[in-house]
Amino acid sequence: MSNTKDSCSFNQTTDKDQQWIDIETPYSHFKMTLFGAHITQFINKADGKDRLFVSKNARLDGSKSIRGGIPICWPWFGDHTDPDMPAHGYVRTLQWTLTKHTINTDSSVTLWLSPESSKELTTAKGYNPELAVELVITVGEQLVVELITTNNGTKAQVYTAALHSYFAVNDIKQTELMGLYGEYKDKCQGFTLHDTPMPYTFSAETDRVHLCTTEKIMIEESDADTFVYSSGHDSIVVWNPWQEKSESMADMEDTSYQHMVCVETAVTQGHTLAPGESHHLTQIIK
Ligand code: BG6
Repeated sequence: MSNTKDSCSFNQTTDKDQQWIDIETPYSHFKMTLFGAHITQFINKADGKDRLFVSKNARLDGSKSIRGGIPICWPWFGDHTDPDMPAHGYVRTLQWTLTKHTINTDSSVTLWLSPESSKELTTAKGYNPELAVELVITVGEQLVVELITTNNGTKAQVYTAALHSYFAVNDIKQTELMGLYGEYKDKCQGFTLHDTPMPYTFSAETDRVHLCTTEKIMIEESDADTFVYSSGHDSIVVWNPWQEKSESMADMEDTSYQHMVCVETAVTQGHTLAPGESHHLTQIIK
């Protein structure tokens, strides 16, 4: 399926493993797969830089969540208390459906996606029939990713989630994050609390839950900076596996940690939804 209007193009294609959506707008190139509703590319035409990192060893055959891009962690973030449950929830490995798309008058394209008709959904480990999820993505001058969670049940529901974005950087040792403040929980040091470093640079494995609701983060690079805007979150997670951990990960090249940093717009503390209520978790990338 393909159509073009107002200099935007929308194409849906299928290869042997995946169904892909490619979008071109006057400002950007975008690519995603319906497996996990996983965005894998967002190139800003102004500087030609893909804002997203995808590991060259990422599995693209649907057997595992893709290492890179924007995995959707929902309805829990991180490890579940039950070790039998998958880390980061169950929707990042489900097939999603594109329920609608529009080409907008401002030369952007909006997509609505849901895992509702996935045949694996109701049998997924940890499946919560009371909670529904929808992803709304707008591609234009910026990339807007909005995860909408709705409580369709009759009692309160608590959920956690993350838009687990892997950003491409030229050299992690030259990268600086601007905009984080306050305390973070350090997963590399038994979840102890520490003050956010200033300047925020990288020299070792980093796995931090920043308990702050900062709305704007800049990933400063020598060529093109990346801006990450967040809303609906209670935390920002920053992750880089560094050398040793990358070596132990089959879907990560040993040294490609040098070219990525995850800055995740997240709900880690638990958001309570009353019956009928919805919550929006949004990340905007520029
Ligand atoms: C981060 C976590 O969000 O995701 C890390 O803070 C974790 O602890 C990383 O290692 C990657 O998780 P996964 O399940 O995709 O390997």
